[in-house]
Amino acid sequence: MSHATKPMTARSGGALSGRIRVPGDKSISHRSLMFGALSVGETQIEGLLEAEDVLSTGSAMRALGARVERVGEGAWRVEGVGVGGLCEPDRVLDFGNAGTGARLTMGLVASHAITTTFIGDASLSRRPMGRVLEPLREMGAEVLARSGDRLPLTIRGPQTALPITYRVPVPSAQVKSAVLLAGLNAPGITTVIEPIATRDHTERMLLGFGAELEITQNEAGERVMRLKGQCELKPQAITVPGDPSSAAFMIVAALIVPGSDVTVENVLLNPHRTGLFTTLREMGADLTIENVRETGGEKLGDVRARHSKLKGVTVPAERAPSMIDEYPVLSMAAAFAEGETRMLGLHELTVKESDRLAAVADGLAANGVPHEKGPDWLLVRGAESVAGGGTVTTHLDHRIAMSFLVLGLASDKPVSVDDGAPIATSFPGFTELFARLGGSIETTTGAAA
Ligand code: S3P
Repeated sequence: MSHATKPMTARSGGALSGRIRVPGDKSISHRSLMFGALSVGETQIEGLLEAEDVLSTGSAMRALGARVERVGEGAWRVEGVGVGGLCEPDRVLDFGNAGTGARLTMGLVASHAITTTFIGDASLSRRPMGRVLEPLREMGAEVLARSGDRLPLTIRGPQTALPITYRVPVPSAQVKSAVLLAGLNAPGITTVIEPIATRDHTERMLLGFGAELEITQNEAGERVMRLKGQCELKPQAITVPGDPSSAAFMIVAALIVPGSDVTVENVLLNPHRTGLFTTLREMGADLTIENVRETGGEKLGDVRARHSKLKGVTVPAERAPSMIDEYPVLSMAAAFAEGETRMLGLHELTVKESDRLAAVADGLAANGVPHEKGPDWLLVRGAESVAGGGTVTTHLDHRIAMSFLVLGLASDKPVSVDDGAPIATSFPGFTELFARLGGSIETTTGAAA
């Protein structure tokens, strides 16, 4: 698929300062539209992330029969069809760059007796879908996919899905969620066992929408979720908190640009999402969390970051699920930390919107940051200053683009990215928000790729 590339450049200027809010959390936004579509009645959503990824999920829910309407900025209404009520779409569902949208929707449709075809952009078409399709096949879905279980693919759900017991083999909230969502329309109890805990938004929202879900720990310390299928979900009023994975760019920028003092208000502080903040604190970051409160069963707060002298640390493998999307931007902080930062247990990083382990290492190399990488680890040797001056290949990966633009705000020479267009998949207003803080990120119009 071709798109207009958008080369961008960031250069160091003065300190960053101010109070801002970032757009709504991506994980919760996708799920709000999906749970709304499966409820009977009208779900009201405020603060929805209006980025390409989530809008793709919105149009998929429409194609599956729900009424999905925008009523104001970030304000949406979803009139659901009820569990078991999804209709067969009369067109293919195009998820663009959105792994979460595609994989969770696969779960939704797999237990409905309908046929659905999924397509996506070049990045999504490279990503492994077998991890989700394997349990869905066990539940009775038939799948026709390109080799290696890649997109495009078509799923045909059975008349009656089988409730299964599934131990999630990789730490993935998307896999866990796909099985639970499929289980909603299977008679009986679907059991998901999660050896390594990942973000739990699906579970929290299932409970919030009135599903019968029991969560326990087994003797091995694994999380066991038992969901009773074919229940009725009740529509909810949801306010989506700010995305910590987006706030991360402003926070790391404030830590590495001298003199900065930035507060990001209204940030989601779910404990499965805050591994970056823990790590930055261990590195010596001046990071404070103010005004902590709770909304809709999730903890939120205002995160204040001030320029800090950072030191290298070892980030243990066990922490990876709680900061899986934040390693690229952590690597930028590590470039300015005294000593070595070792990041372990990074295998899942290689199957994101790009192979992020390789993309980060290449970008660091292009900008004069010493580092080493292995199959599932990265070591960054930090220094007081970073040369910059490189152009980074973003491989259709929004977080690679944003991370290296953050580096450019603090490096000696400007840092460019070949294509910042994917930033629109998750963070509309990224450049404008940085401009409000005093950061200089420019776009030059590119040619069609
Ligand atoms: C997500 C889960 C994670 C994460 C992604 C969002 C979710 O993916 O990287 O950005 O909303 O469930 P995996 O489940 O593949 O780890």
